[in-house]
Amino acid sequence: MTIDESRLDSIIDEYNGEQGSLISILQDIQAQYQYLPREAMDYVAMRLKIPRVQVFGVATFFKAFSLKPKGKQRIHVCMGTACHVRGSKMVLEELERKLGIKAGDTTLDNEYTLETVNCLGACALGPVVVKNEEYRGQMTPIKVGSLLDTKKP
Ligand code: FES
Repeated sequence: MTIDESRLDSIIDEYNGEQGSLISILQDIQAQYQYLPREAMDYVAMRLKIPRVQVFGVATFFKAFSLKPKGKQRIHVCMGTACHVRGSKMVLEELERKLGIKAGDTTLDNEYTLETVNCLGACALGPVVVKNEEYRGQMTPIKVGSLLDTKKP
């Protein structure tokens, strides 16, 4: 991937290139790209004058950071306790089957990213699935097809 160094410079400069701002810098980069491109992390290491392994260490330590590109559409399946007891595992398995990917992955055409979360704060509606920003409650394996574009598998 080709990265726009001027975009990265403006983020890094906002924090005066301070090594102590590494996490904030990575958060801002992820907000721009929806993930942390390897080239961007290399560039940050160079600009902050810290070893690349330190940047990669932080990026892999925090679950909020993603090193993989995200799809155009993001589907989150709640696996919190309330949703779990109502069958969210079966909902997730059906989505994995229909999309041909595992949770945490993105389809080859970059259309969908499937992820799990622990609680979306809407337990009474469980099992809950969020497609992009839209909450869908009382989800079942049969209903998950309605989350996907009909032209998709
Ligand atoms: S456990 Fe799923 S919304 Fe709370």
